[in-house]
Amino acid sequence: MERILVCVAWPYANGSLHLGHIAGAYLPADIFARYHRAKGNSVLMVSGSDQHGTPITIRAEQEQKTPQEVAAKYHSEFLDSWQKLGIEFDLFTTTGTANHARVVHDIFLTLLQKGHIYRDSMPQPFCPKCQRFLPDRYVNGTCPFCGFKEARGDQCDGCGKPTNPLELKEPRCRLCGSTPQAKTSEHFFLRLSTFQEPLLNWVRLQNHWRQNVQNFTLRYLEEGLKDRAITRDIEWGVPIPQPGFEQKRIYVWFEAVIGYLSASQEWAKLHGKDDAWSPFWKEESKSYYFIGKDNIPFHTMIWPAMLMGYGGLNLPYDVPANEFLTIEGKKLSTSRNWAVWLPDYLERYSPDPLRYFLSANMPETSDADFSWREFVRRNNDELVATYGNLVHRVLTFTVRHFDGCVPTPHELDASSAALLEKARTACGAVDSLLYNCHFRDSAKAIMSLAQETNRYLDEKSPWKTVKTDREACATALFVSLSVIANLKTLFYPFLPFSSEKLHKSLGFRGTVKDDGWGFRELKAGQKLAPPEPLFTKLDESVVARENARLGQAP
Ligand code: MF3
Ligand code: ZN
Repeated sequence: MERILVCVAWPYANGSLHLGHIAGAYLPADIFARYHRAKGNSVLMVSGSDQHGTPITIRAEQEQKTPQEVAAKYHSEFLDSWQKLGIEFDLFTTTGTANHARVVHDIFLTLLQKGHIYRDSMPQPFCPKCQRFLPDRYVNGTCPFCGFKEARGDQCDGCGKPTNPLELKEPRCRLCGSTPQAKTSEHFFLRLSTFQEPLLNWVRLQNHWRQNVQNFTLRYLEEGLKDRAITRDIEWGVPIPQPGFEQKRIYVWFEAVIGYLSASQEWAKLHGKDDAWSPFWKEESKSYYFIGKDNIPFHTMIWPAMLMGYGGLNLPYDVPANEFLTIEGKKLSTSRNWAVWLPDYLERYSPDPLRYFLSANMPETSDADFSWREFVRRNNDELVATYGNLVHRVLTFTVRHFDGCVPTPHELDASSAALLEKARTACGAVDSLLYNCHFRDSAKAIMSLAQETNRYLDEKSPWKTVKTDREACATALFVSLSVIANLKTLFYPFLPFSSEKLHKSLGFRGTVKDDGWGFRELKAGQKLAPPEPLFTKLDESVVARENARLGQAP
């Protein structure tokens, strides 16, 4: 038994989720967790709403609400979306809990006591016109690394590097456009510079990481790691556990990454075993951090440095960051409404076709595109015509001609034995693909097994042999049903809703997860239940209708 900690990026609770979030982090995490649970491994999957930070306060100012109200609204929307899309967290909490603040304070104070956090004064951007300190994201300007003009004071969208608001060239206040001044203020700093060497040594050993993740991190570390302020002159956030700092707060990034740990502890308490989190963090266990590529530095450098400094907790085992999802060939933009919003999708369509599309087009090694035309095509050609139709014809035919039971096979001819062998091989291949976080290739391998099975079925034509050679007919159906039973298991991490349905139609009791992972032949005689269609064909008109919505004011 392996222990697998699945950590998923904490979405800012300042707006709805869109397909970029799902393809970037939530779907791969869920596939991975379902796969390991089905294998019988011990899995803990945690995340939550990131309710601090300027994304929330900016939204609250725009809507004239409190940050708390904004966060609460989107947190409940997220929970609803997870349920509808079948993203199964063990706990999806928020960074607003007392438990989170307690764990953040413990880490802060331990790092302070060990000398990894120190106090210093620093010049902060202060807007003379607005008469306030400006949070990083309230300062825009030109990136000092790549020259991108619209860089923010926290991170550059041009090169992905974290930035410092006062190091931007030609800085502007995002509220009024004036040039911010530098005004000195007392803050706490994380001594990242001392971790440069330990981090370099550690990252160089992580050859199982995706190339882009490892290379990006190494290049960054080789340029040198600077200490960073971890507190800010703001009102919304986790308080600083030191006298004299009552007017300031801990910086969102420092505390949000601690959420992985605090959520694990909260989960343990909720399950009545206060210590249950500790094996995932202190014993033999692998932790995977599913994030979008813009979050790489925080998960491959800052959080590992914090963990090294704190001591006694496992470092990330892998950070399978995904690239971006474009929409109809263009960069996704929430401000221009060039996005497909998850709540909208879930109101109109079923979850599995989206899970399938985003798996087959997952932006793992390069950006990938979502288009409604491709979505409809994959649904109709692959889910309905290839997989759904295969299942439907085999099951209805068996129910009709073999008393609704799995027929007893006779001697296996070469092509029957070959197909079973292919299914066995596919199970092994998909297992190792999933183990290594290659979701896209897994989805393709499974669908091509379904295609093979259709070809086999056409070759065997049981609808003909049922009258001429009942033994051959029984064998072909047995083989097809066995492969279908394995398709159900292989597809389970990707298409959980259809797999559960099919599981019942094949006459299994309980859940797919409890039934386990790995190749199996069916038992002859197993009673089948009348099949329900797994997927529905989508009309071509969906394409035009949905495209008309893109880029329109909501
Ligand atoms: N809320 C941030 C974002 O969406 C950070 C997510 S990951 C975390 O980019 F671990 F830092 F929370
Ligand atoms: Zn201003």
